[in-house]
Amino acid sequence: MCGIVGYMGCHEASPVIMSGLKMLEYRGYDSAGICTMDLGAVEIRRSSGKLVNLERLLNEQPLHGTIGIGHTRWATHGKPTVVNAHPHRGGAVVVVHNGIIENYLSLKEELLDKGHMFLSETDSEVISHLVDEKLKTATTLEEAVRLALKDLQGAYALCILSQRDDKTLIAAKSGSPMVVGIKGHEFFIASDMPAIIANTREMVIMEDGEMAVFRNGTVIFTDLDGQDIVKTPRFIDWSPMMAEKNGYPNFMLKEIHEQPQAVKNVTAGRLRPNEGDVFLEGLHLSDRQLLSFERLCLVACGTSWHAALAGKYMIEEHCRIPVDVEIASEFRYRDPLVSGKTLVIPISQSGETADTLAALREAKSRDAHIVSICNVVDSSIARESDGVIYTHAGLEIGVASTKAFTTQLVALYMLTIRLGRANGAINLEKGREMIAALNALPDLVEKTLLLDPQIEEVACEYLTSWDAIYLGRGISYPIALEGALKLKEISYIHADGYPAGEMKHGPIALIDREMPVFVLAPNDRHLVKVRSNMEEVITRGGRVAAFCSAGDEETGKRAEFSLQIPWAGEVLSAVLFAVALQLVAYNFAILKGKDVDQPRNLAKSVTVE
Ligand code: F6R
Repeated sequence: MCGIVGYMGCHEASPVIMSGLKMLEYRGYDSAGICTMDLGAVEIRRSSGKLVNLERLLNEQPLHGTIGIGHTRWATHGKPTVVNAHPHRGGAVVVVHNGIIENYLSLKEELLDKGHMFLSETDSEVISHLVDEKLKTATTLEEAVRLALKDLQGAYALCILSQRDDKTLIAAKSGSPMVVGIKGHEFFIASDMPAIIANTREMVIMEDGEMAVFRNGTVIFTDLDGQDIVKTPRFIDWSPMMAEKNGYPNFMLKEIHEQPQAVKNVTAGRLRPNEGDVFLEGLHLSDRQLLSFERLCLVACGTSWHAALAGKYMIEEHCRIPVDVEIASEFRYRDPLVSGKTLVIPISQSGETADTLAALREAKSRDAHIVSICNVVDSSIARESDGVIYTHAGLEIGVASTKAFTTQLVALYMLTIRLGRANGAINLEKGREMIAALNALPDLVEKTLLLDPQIEEVACEYLTSWDAIYLGRGISYPIALEGALKLKEISYIHADGYPAGEMKHGPIALIDREMPVFVLAPNDRHLVKVRSNMEEVITRGGRVAAFCSAGDEETGKRAEFSLQIPWAGEVLSAVLFAVALQLVAYNFAILKGKDVDQPRNLAKSVTVE
């Protein structure tokens, strides 16, 4: 959600923090602010709206000092105004915060009684006042922060400065991510690695309940009782180039076009064509262990949930293992039926989604074995899992997930092969066929991307629509859901995905000339039925764009548009249809002049529940 950057070193802090915040703007872009410490005084600049507003302000009123903290906000408590923007100041203490303080109202009341004056509507401001209050009795800032943290309930990643100690910066974490980049005696603190990867690739990943105290070119990590913790920096194997647009007009298009490579990356070193099998290095489960699970439970949010639903279609059909698919935010609160006999698979691009992380912990507390599918290496979900299948899609900055989704589908396909080979549902020959289909996939993704001009025509034709429907059967149903979500997110056109056979049970009432219907009609066993559903729409005056398989001239004949998607086999064609629907949403949004990388109200990586 929000992004945090902190700096302590020998350079002016403000430009370092600003360039870090720019890399994090995709995490939240309602308002932003920076505070630096100079000659024992803190100074703050804040502005509402996107970072350019803050940049403008800093040009007019620059900040000086070699210690500083900054924030880009995705509003939870309080509107996106300047007063609600971080950093927040309470007395001598200044704070930037990511997360939600659940008991902030009761803390605020106590602090009001003690004479503290609040300016914002945020939960975060309470932290600065609380630390300031603790400073009245504590001997050091470090001690005051420690005492304050013990009173907080909820999630936080924090950077804290105080005028009372102009040589110290403190970072703390519980429930929201935080990393510390180290370059000699310079320190870069951030909620996400992309913010600081251009400065250093030596990073310490903080764990819940840890604090980092930066003072005079050193850092000490402690727990909340003040006990030192030894932390070893890791070399992060990401290139700063990943965070550049490389000539594309925006990150979303760049990431859509990275998919052929992303598919190669997720399969790299994992395919065993001769054995008709895959090797998933992070799975850490023998065939015998895999066979011991009675059921699988895939749990995720949003786009990752759509991948999970597609995974159910893959695994149940090819491996004959029961699979439940759970929305993470529901799972946790409904006394879920998981046990030591359940393999729970959280799926998450960021690995930090609060709902998915909470679901993981819930499943763990019920003895489930956890193997996650994650993109971000060493993310919280990855770290808390018993095994991980990384999707290796690379950094995804566009808020609308694209390459993360298609690589999740591929990871699930590989898991299907592994499970099917382990329980014998997939024989050698079929396993080999499935691997061959995977090897062919990157080129087919490339070919699908060439459909862009045709897809742009579709978007032009239906540009004035306020609503759209996506239909699919079998594995195309989750892809229809994902297509609809992409359109909603970035073009603000209301869209719904339905199983094509469900149309006649209600949604067909919506059909008229204003409602384009995107029909997913791959050349699979459902094609005949999908054609009938399409006819039902056309007969009622509906306008259809049909997404068919290459060589199928028949299906789209009565549709207004007929696009031919390469054929990659029954399961993997879903990946190609997903790519085509990403381009549909992208073209709609661009033609409508929308900001595809930072759509309104959204944020990448939802770290609040
Ligand atoms: C949509 C999108 C979101 C995420 C969801 C889960 O384009 O990106 O729906 O899929 O917030 O995020 P992760 O996968 O990071 O857990």
